[in-house]
Parts: sequence; C-alpha cells; structure tokens
Amino acid sequence: MAVVGMLLWCLTIYLQGGLWLPVESKYIAYNTTGRIVPGKINVHLVPHSHDDVGWLKTVDQYYFGGNNSIRGACVQNVIDSVMSSLFEDKNRKFIYVEMAFFQRWWRQQSEAMKIKVKDLTTLGHKYIKDEFGQIPRVGWQIDPFGHSAVQAYLLGAELGFDSLFFARIDYQDRAKRLKEKNLEVVWQGSKSLGSTSQDDVLLFDYNVQERVNAFVAAALAQANVTRTNHIMWLMGTDFRYQYANSWFRQMDKFIHYVNQDGRVNALYSTPSIYTDLKHAADEEWPLKTEDFFPYADHPNAYWTGYFTSRPAFKGYVRLMSGYYLAARQLEFFKGRNTSGPNTDALADALAIAQHHDAVSGTERQHVAADYALRLSIGYKEAEKLVASSLASLAESTSNIRQGNTVINFQQNLLMRVWFYRCPLLNISYCPSSEADLSDGKSLLVVVYNPLGWKREEVIRIPVSTEKVVVRDSSGGEIESQLLPISNATPHIRRNM
Ligand SMILES: *[C@@H]1O[C@H](CO)[C@@H](O)[C@H](O)[C@H]1NC(C)=O
Ligand SMILES: *[C@@H]1O[C@H](CO)[C@@H](O)[C@H](O)[C@H]1NC(C)=O
Ligand SMILES: *[C@@H]1O[C@H](CO)[C@@H](O)[C@H](O)[C@H]1NC(C)=O
Ligand SMILES: *[C@@H]1O[C@H](CO)[C@@H](O)[C@H](O)[C@H]1NC(C)=O
Ligand SMILES: *[C@@H]1O[C@H](CO)[C@@H](O)[C@H](O)[C@H]1NC(C)=O
Repeated sequence: MAVVGMLLWCLTIYLQGGLWLPVESKYIAYNTTGRIVPGKINVHLVPHSHDDVGWLKTVDQYYFGGNNSIRGACVQNVIDSVMSSLFEDKNRKFIYVEMAFFQRWWRQQSEAMKIKVKDLTTLGHKYIKDEFGQIPRVGWQIDPFGHSAVQAYLLGAELGFDSLFFARIDYQDRAKRLKEKNLEVVWQGSKSLGSTSQDDVLLFDYNVQERVNAFVAAALAQANVTRTNHIMWLMGTDFRYQYANSWFRQMDKFIHYVNQDGRVNALYSTPSIYTDLKHAADEEWPLKTEDFFPYADHPNAYWTGYFTSRPAFKGYVRLMSGYYLAARQLEFFKGRNTSGPNTDALADALAIAQHHDAVSGTERQHVAADYALRLSIGYKEAEKLVASSLASLAESTSNIRQGNTVINFQQNLLMRVWFYRCPLLNISYCPSSEADLSDGKSLLVVVYNPLGWKREEVIRIPVSTEKVVVRDSSGGEIESQLLPISNATPHIRRNM
C-alpha cells in the first residue's frame, strides 16, 4: 500500500508540475493537431499579446525594454520568443496586431528569418500587404474604451473586413447580451457588416484532471451564452508572451488532455478561422446598430474623461492629419521620392498617434511628449516636400494633366520660388508675410484647398504695413480688410 500511495503522490506531483515523473519520466508528444469536431463544443484558443503602442512608456521604450522600472515590458522579446515557439510546432498559432512594433522587429531580421516568417504568418494591414501580399479580414481592437458605429462602417463596408473583435463593452450591456446570447452580432454601423466577441479565460496547469474539468466547465459555461458550437478564448493579455513557450506549452497540454477527455474539442485557432465557422453555421444573428459608447466597466465608472483629455494633443493630431492628406496630394503631383523628403515619417507618427492610449490622452506625460515629437519630426519632413512641390507647381509653365482633370496653375512668375508654411498663425506670427513689403515688393501667397469641393474661407495673414493690396492669380483685386492685432497678441508672441 505504501508503494501505491507513493506512486499516487508522485503522480500528483507530475500532474501538478508537469516537470518530472520518476516512474514514467519520458517525453510526451502533445497532440496539438487542430480540427473541428462537428456537434461538439469547439474551443478556439487564440494566442495573442496586447502590446500598447505607448502608454506608461514610449513606443520605443516598450519595444527595446527601456525604462523597465516603470513596467517590465520588452516587445522585442514577445515577437522573438513567439517566433521560435511557432517554428517548434506548426499547429500553434498566434495573432499579432500592433504593426508599429512588428515593423520595428521586421526591419532588423535577416533575409533568412524573413523568409521563414513569411511562410508562417498572415498578419494585418497595408504594410503586411506590401511585405506579405496578404489582405487582413479581421479587426482586432481588444483594448479601446468604447467603439463608434463609424468603426463598423469603416472596417466593414469600406475595408471589407469579415469581423471585428473587441473586449471592452459596457458591463450592463455585456450582462444582458450574455443572457440573450447576443455577444456576437451583425453590427450595422451604417450599411456594413461586423461581429463581436469577447472574454479572456486564463487557465493554469496544476492538475490534469482538475484542469481538464475546469476547462470543460468554462467551455460549457461560455457555450451556454454563445450561439453555435464554436467559442473563442483569447489566450493572452498586456505584454504577455515575452516567454512565449510557457504559454504555448500550457496550451499544448490543454489541447492534448482535453481532446483525450473528449467532452469538448480544443484547438489552436485564429479569429479568421472562427469567423468563417460562424459564417458557415446557418444561424440568424442579432442586429446591432449605433455605437458601443460610452464604456463603463462597473457602476459609476464611465470611461468618458478621455474624450476631452489632452485637448492640445488631440488638436495637434487632427491638424496634422489634415496637413498629411494635403501633403499626400502634393507628393503625388510632384512624384514620390523614396529617399528624399516624403510623407512617410508623418504617416508613421500619425498611425502611432491613433493608438488607444495616444490620441485618447491616457498615456503618461513623457509618452505624450514623445508622440508630439514624432509628429513634429514628421511634419518638418513633410513641410519640405510640400514646399518643393508647391514650388515646382509654381515654376511649371504648362498645365498639369491628371487623367481628365486639367489643373491650371496660372501664374506669371518664372523665378525660383520657395514656400514657407505659417504654422503659428494662431498667434499671428509669420515671418515671411511680415517681411518688409515697401517699394512695390509683393508677397506670393498660396492657399491650398485639399478638399474635393469649393470653399469660402477668411484667411488671416499678419503683415507689417498698411499699404497692401490683395490680388488673385489673374490680377483681380480680392476684398480684404486690415485689422489691428489685439493688445494681447504681442504678449502671446513674446519675443518672436
Ligand atoms: C491527434 O489528434 C487528432 C485530432 O484530435 C486526431 O485526429 C489524431 O488521430 C491524433 N493523433 C495521434 C497521434 O494521436
Ligand atoms: C522613464 O520614465 C520617466 C517617467 O516616469 C521619464 O521621466 C523618463 O524620461 C523616462 N526615461 C527615459 C530614458 O526616457
Ligand atoms: C446555462 O444558462 C442557464 C440560464 O442562464 C443557467 O441556469 C445554467 O446554469 C447555465 N449552465 C451552465 C453550464 O453554465
Ligand atoms: C530624392 O531626394 C534625394 C535627397 O533629397 C535627392 O538627392 C534626389 O535627387 C531626389 N530624387 C528625385 C527623383 O527627385
Ligand atoms: C499655436 O499652435 C501651435 C501648434 O501649431 C501650438 O504648439 C501652440 O501652443 C499654439 N499656441 C497657442 C497660443 O495656442
């Protein structure tokens, strides 16, 4: 009896730690083969990490693992270790959404590594289309603090995504949807399609039978509030998978033992596989219209402060977004220069600023400063492109033909021109327009309308003389007024 007791005890240790088994200490090949079993509850395990593109640390600090006293997070390790775990077992899957980090990682990989990874992954967006020739079909917005119906329209009707997954939804809405099996819906933002899912179940391996029972119970509970026999578990959270193998090893065991048990079926999966099965199921989905706003995670905890926090930064992002679109048009007129000044840095900075801890204002101060710095660097570069593009348009004597549209830059100057933008018109500051305009000198002002329709706007330009006449490009006089600057203005301008 003692021996049996001993064996049981040893066995328990093995099951708990999964490390050693004195009696049968041998290699176990976990069967991670994924397949769908019709009629059974299929648990889709979706490994992922949620890596904020700047929050408590800047985007680069998160990537390299800098400033680790604030938060021990190094995204480089996440991607490195996930890749080696994926190479180990072709059944494993992983989804990665933060392209800002992935780009940083990708740039540093050898050609050999790039080839291996291209064989392996199908990750998202234009960068991925360029590098991998893949068009993403699934939106993954785990962390944003609410979702506007415009998202459904943009991602569905405009981008053609099959589905959108997100985690944060008002707690009362969630409770009601659970009861009515309405967590997955067809979301009609305006005329689009999209479905949602959520829930994050993390299980750790203490004892096989106990763990398998817990797994099965969790699967049954979720199946109970989900339509069809497919349920999805998000296996990951903020900055996880820095030691990816520890996650994958646990999931390997689950898939192995749960499928041996046979009450439910578990497999490595992705949102696309899951979505396809939801589409294939002959199921009527409830319709959702309007926003998932405002977001509250418990009573009296509405996440609405961020709508207005860091207004200066929000304004800056918006201003730069408009400038970026105008600059892109001018870049197109001139012809894009991959090495020279172009709009890439501004595009990058703006993309990073769309992160849900960036433009929302929920980041730390030094991170906010880092976002603003990136925008300003991008803007400086785009400004050079805009100036040279406008100059070459002004210098060209002929009309520019683009398709059926003739753009007539009629002007009578044949000299070299260089344009300066006046970003500080908000404090009536523009050195170029304030230059000495006496003795019949003239100042060429180009006002560029990047919108596709005619606009009538009042334009204000600081000048240093009253003797000015404003004319249009054919010499006709344009109505203008001279206004004295307010007493406060010199104070705001300080020494400028
Ligand atoms: C592994 O699991 C799959 C699906 O669960 C099954 O079809 C296959 O026979 C298993 N392979 C082995 C070697 O047990
Ligand atoms: C680390 O974070 C702090 C904010 O807590 C910031 O002031 C500091 O500049 C950061 N360090 C670096 C190297 O950026
Ligand atoms: C399934 O849902 C019903 C009704 O909400 C509940 O009574 C039951 O306990 C649930 N079963 C499981 C396994 O969660
Ligand atoms: C692109 O920019 C570089 C550096 O500014 C310049 O040397 C080069 O002539 C430009 N190429 C074209 C095609 O304009
Ligand atoms: C004017 O706009 C710039 C950004 O272009 C901003 O940095 C500055 O704070 C603004 N000045 C005032 C007084 O609002």
